[in-house]
Amino acid sequence: MSGREQQYIQEAFDTNWVVPLGPNVNGFEEDLKKFVGQDREVVALCSGTSAVHLALIACGVGPGDEVLVQSFTFCASSHPITYLGATPVFIDSEKDSWNMDPDLLEEAIEDRIAKTGRAPKAIVPVALYGMPYQIDRIMAIADKYGIPVIEDAAEGFGSCWEGRVLGTFGKFGVLSFNGNKMITTSGGGALVCEDVETKNKIMWYATQAREAYPYYQHEAIGYNYRLSNICAGIGRGQMTIVDEHIAHHRRVQELYSELLSDVPGIRVHGNPDPRYQSNFWLCTMTVDPSIRIVGQENAYKTVVKGAVGGAAGVVHCSENPRTDCEPNDNIEALRVFMDQAGIEARPLWKPMHRQPVYKNAPAYVNGVSESLFKVGMCLPAGPYVTDEDVRYIVDTIKKAIVRDGHH
Ligand SMILES: Cc1ncc(COP(=O)(O)O)c(C=O)c1O
Repeated sequence: MSGREQQYIQEAFDTNWVVPLGPNVNGFEEDLKKFVGQDREVVALCSGTSAVHLALIACGVGPGDEVLVQSFTFCASSHPITYLGATPVFIDSEKDSWNMDPDLLEEAIEDRIAKTGRAPKAIVPVALYGMPYQIDRIMAIADKYGIPVIEDAAEGFGSCWEGRVLGTFGKFGVLSFNGNKMITTSGGGALVCEDVETKNKIMWYATQAREAYPYYQHEAIGYNYRLSNICAGIGRGQMTIVDEHIAHHRRVQELYSELLSDVPGIRVHGNPDPRYQSNFWLCTMTVDPSIRIVGQENAYKTVVKGAVGGAAGVVHCSENPRTDCEPNDNIEALRVFMDQAGIEARPLWKPMHRQPVYKNAPAYVNGVSESLFKVGMCLPAGPYVTDEDVRYIVDTIKKAIVRDGHH
C-alpha cells in the first residue's frame, strides 16, 4: 500500500460517495487510461471475470457459439463463455511463452469452420503469470478470419509486447485488480475498449442496461458489474506505486534466475526474447522429473483439506488424493517441503482441457501445457517479498533436493 489509498477512501466517505460510481471510479479510469495509452478507453468493473463476461457479450457471443480460448489459464478466462451458453474451444500453448500457440489457433479456426460451418466468435489469449502472448501473429490470424480478440491480461497488467502495453492490441483487454494481482482494489477489474462507443456500451451493460426514461425501462439484460467507489479509491492509491510494483516483480524474477542458475534440472521461466516484456506477476520454474525431493515417497498420500487459495472457509472435500492429471511427485513433495518452511508455493494452472468440468469441450492440443503443469511451480513474488526472502526460498529449494542419498 502507498498510504494514498486511505486518503481516497476517506474522501469517498466524507463526500458520501459510498456507491458503485463516483469521483474515485472516474479518477481510477483516468489513471488506467493514461497507463495503458494508445488512445484506449477503460471501464472499471467489479472483477476481471465480469470484464471477460462483458467483452464476450459485446462480441455477440450467445447460445450455441464457440469461442477459442487458451487452455493453460485460470478458469475465469473460460467460465464466462459457458455463462452465455456458448462452448469454449481450448487451444494449447507454445513452449517458449507458455501461451496460445498461433499455429494451433489457425488450425483450430480452419477445423471449426469445416466442422460447424461457422467461424468462432472470439479469440482469448492469456498472459500467463504476466508473460505476453505472440500478439502480432495472433492479431494477423484474427484479422485474416475477421474474429475479434479479447486479450486476457488479468495477470499481465503492465506487461508489454515490443514496448506496447498488453490489453491494447485486441478489441478488448481484460484487467484484474483482485487481492493477489499486480495492483489491487481488494476485488476489481477493468475492460480496455477500443473507442468511446464501445466503452459506453460496456458501461451500459455493467449498470443493468437502463434505457433513458424517467423510470426503469429495460430492453436488454444487464449486470451489476460496476466497481465500488471505495474500491476505486484503493485503486487510485495503488496507481501511484504501480511502476515500483512492476519493477519489484521483475527484480525478484531476476534474483530467482540468478540464484537458481547453478541448480541442474531447475529452470526459471524468463522472457523468450526481447519482444516479450513480462511483469513477472508470479515467478515460475520447472523441475526436471529426475530431481529427487525429500519426502517424495509420501507425495499425494493424504487428501488435501483446504481448497486451493481457500474459499471463505467453505471446503469442497475430495475423496481421492489423486487425479489422472497432476503435478509430478517431486513437485508435490517440494510444495509440502516449502510449506513446512513457511513458504507458499503452488503448482501451475491446470490446463482447462484436462478439467473434468470441460471434458466435452473441443480442444486442439500439442501436449505443451499438460507437460508444463506436471513439472512447473509458482514461487512467491509479491511486493512484500524481499531479496532476503528470495535467498531463503532458494536455499529451501536447494535443501529439498536429495543428492546422492543425502540432503
Ligand atoms: C487469467 C485470469 N483471467 C481472469 C481472472 C479474473 O479476475 P478476477 O479474479 O478479478 O475476477 C484472473 C484472476 O483471478 C486470471 O488469472
